[in-house]
Parts: sequence; C-alpha cells; structure tokens
Amino acid sequence: MSFEIADQIAFIRRNLMVRPVPGRPDLALYCAHPGSGLHRLDALTGRIDGAVPPYWAHIWPGGAALAQHFQADPGCIAGRTVLDLGAGSGLVGIAAARAGASRVICSEIDPLGMTAIRLNADLNDVAVEVAGDLTDRALPPADLIAAGDLFYDPDLAKTVLGSLRQAAEAGCEVLVGDPGRAYLPRQHLEPLAGYPVHDFGDAPGDPDKTGTVYRLS
Ligand SMILES: C[S@@+](CC[C@H](N)C(=O)[O-])C[C@H]1O[C@@H](n2cnc3c(N)ncnc32)[C@H](O)[C@@H]1O
Repeated sequence: MSFEIADQIAFIRRNLMVRPVPGRPDLALYCAHPGSGLHRLDALTGRIDGAVPPYWAHIWPGGAALAQHFQADPGCIAGRTVLDLGAGSGLVGIAAARAGASRVICSEIDPLGMTAIRLNADLNDVAVEVAGDLTDRALPPADLIAAGDLFYDPDLAKTVLGSLRQAAEAGCEVLVGDPGRAYLPRQHLEPLAGYPVHDFGDAPGDPDKTGTVYRLS
C-alpha cells in the first residue's frame, strides 16, 4: 500500500493538533491527542512487526530539555552546524535553528517522522534539512550533535553511543538531553543543566520532572 508524502501531510494536518511546547511556548508542534487514531497508520503505511512507533507525534522530555537549554545558552548554538540525531518531531533541531544555528540537519528513521519534521519546521518558520538513519555510517560533519531522549532501548543506546563517541573523538561537541532513561550511559556524560519537563504519558496535573542536558566527555 502506498502512503505518499501528500497523504502523510494530509494525515498529520487532519489528525494532530498544533500545541505549544511546554517550557518553550514560542515553539509549536503537531502533537497527537486521544482522537488522533495513530493506530490507523499501521494499515495505511503497511507497517509490519518491528516498525518504529510514531514517536514523532509526541514531545519527549530529553528534547524539551535541550530546547530549553538552547534558549538559555544560545551561544552554544549560534553560527554552528547542528545535527539533531533521532529527531522525532524535530523539536531539538527547530530549537537550534531558532537559537541561530547556521545549518541544521534532523536525522529521523521513520519516514512519517521526516514529513512531520518538515511540517513542524514550516510551522515555526525555520529551515532544517531532513535525513534518514545515519547511524550505519560516519555521522556527517557537524560542530554540535544533539541527541534528545535516545537511551530508552538497549540496542539503540549502544548504536547511538558508538556513533556519538566516534563523532566526539573527531572533535564534535555532543550534547544529550535525557530524563534518566534506563540505558543512559552516565559514565560518559557530564551534567550541564537541568530543566522542568513532562514525560510522555504524564497526566496534565502531574509534577514536573527534571530533564538534564549532558555533554559527552
Ligand atoms: C524518544 S524519540 C525522541 C525524539 C526527539 N529527539 C525528542 O527528544 O523529542 C526517539 C526518536 O529516535 C528515532 N530513531 C530511532 N532510531 C533511529 C535511528 N537509527 N536514526 C534516526 N532516528 C532514530 C525514533 O524514530 C524516534 O523518533
């Protein structure tokens, strides 16, 4: 079954809701809500077992922490080439573009996520480039790589850490945003700052958690 880019755009516009980002109300994203019916995507896209869930339709605390950090410390971004690895909605890359990055590349494995990133960048009036999975090769040259909330799965954590360490050894600065996921490689990370965040699945009245921004050392 073909679910072309025009169909993807129509689905996102029709079924997701534009919402401000908690902690960054100057940014907005297409977000899932109880009526979005994202389960229909399995049939529409012909997804099979093992396909990536639609993470792009949610705001993740690791990305929200990085987005707040870029606003608090735009000097870490301004004029730099930034790679947003595992971009999801594109929040991290969009926040980097807003903070004055000279070039932003958002890497996302899910084709529908790639479409959502383009829509979200348009919504926020910023320019980002969109790429698919880059972890099977040397990451493209960047001054800074930002990885939001990628340490929730052991295999992904291992792959991502390998790619990030390789880039850091080549001289790239690497920042990680994370709320304390199970596979966070703390022994390689230096905490820089913490920000109030909500986690996916938290109810609206639940207390904030802390999303920490780390530098890979
Ligand atoms: C928990 S979400 C975090 C999204 C975003 N970084 C944020 O913090 O809002 C993880 C994202 O990584 C993506 N992903 C997983 N493996 C990937 C890979 N090898 N290359 C690029 N993206 C990947 C998933 O599809 C998902 O959108």
